[in-house]
Amino acid sequence: MSSVMLNSIIHGDCLAVMATMPSNTIDTIITDPPYGIRFRGNKWDYDIPSIHCFEEMYRVAKPGAFLLCFGGSRTFHRMTVHIEDAGWKIKDTMMWIYGSGMPKGLDIGKEMNQIFTPNLSNPKDPKQVLGQKWQGWRTALKPAFEPIIIAMKPIEHTYVFNALQHGVAGFNIDQSRLDTQSRSFHCQSKYANSVVFGKSMRPLYFDGSRGRYPSNVVMDENVSEIVEGQVKGASRFFYCMKATSEERIAGNNHHPTVKPLKLMVYLCTLTKTPFGGVVLDPFGGSGTTAVAAIEAKRPYILVEKELEYVRIARGRVEGCK
Ligand SMILES: C[S@@+](CC[C@H](N)C(=O)[O-])C[C@H]1O[C@@H](n2cnc3c(N)ncnc32)[C@H](O)[C@@H]1O
Repeated sequence: MSSVMLNSIIHGDCLAVMATMPSNTIDTIITDPPYGIRFRGNKWDYDIPSIHCFEEMYRVAKPGAFLLCFGGSRTFHRMTVHIEDAGWKIKDTMMWIYGSGMPKGLDIGKEMNQIFTPNLSNPKDPKQVLGQKWQGWRTALKPAFEPIIIAMKPIEHTYVFNALQHGVAGFNIDQSRLDTQSRSFHCQSKYANSVVFGKSMRPLYFDGSRGRYPSNVVMDENVSEIVEGQVKGASRFFYCMKATSEERIAGNNHHPTVKPLKLMVYLCTLTKTPFGGVVLDPFGGSGTTAVAAIEAKRPYILVEKELEYVRIARGRVEGCK
């Protein structure tokens, strides 16, 4: 790996940048690419990454490297297929469940009233009656989860051989366990100290001295209260809210889809190798993955094609020093 690229935020198209990177050199790819839903009309959210793009990620990744890829609930099936078609092995899907999403569906009754402009002073006007009939019908559910596709570049021979040959194999489970006594994430990050685990546990996976085994579900506090009926924060799952406005203000960050730093630190820790291991984010946005990698004490390479976001990302990284 070129040392010039390490720990830098590169301005450019990720396909062009990855083409300059040597094969089999990246330990983990953690990325939040366009979901292809034209989120808030953003032109960068035109489509999900192509198979070719995931092939380039595959080429630069070491055997045994994980790809953790966020997706949208409407389009992640296509993302998963692209990842698989590029050669990656789909290992799991993590679900990040939150209660703070806003329903955005169209109100059909209201729309009907606007189109047909009923005579509101006449309650028997058939157009008004029709609008009333459709009152309460909407076109979408409230968003409450985001999937994170977990894929791996196939290992060479066995996990042990791969670990010795390439320095990467499996999840860093023990450093990602949550401490049931102090209820804090074992990672020493200042951002991750409010992560909690609850009391409920399955003996098969739980060793009281080491903390709870990480699962493929991440919840926010509100959801854990509803699902588990436990006191605030005492969830058996990893707990993480959406990025708060404080987090955005701290980085002077107006990117529309900022991921919460705590979640990204957790993912960087979960995939950390015994040697650290380089994290690549080809769709870097405002640089949350880079800041998280620094927190998790891992080298990183971040690529972003919009200059305004590159500037925000570089500012946030500078702020870590
Ligand atoms: C969903 S956002 C990532 C946000 C990021 N997780 C954060 O916390 O700020 C996806 C980003 O990918 C960038 N992008 C889209 N196509 C790209 C490409 N071909 N190469 C590099 N960046 C690209 C967009 O400009 C956008 O900032």
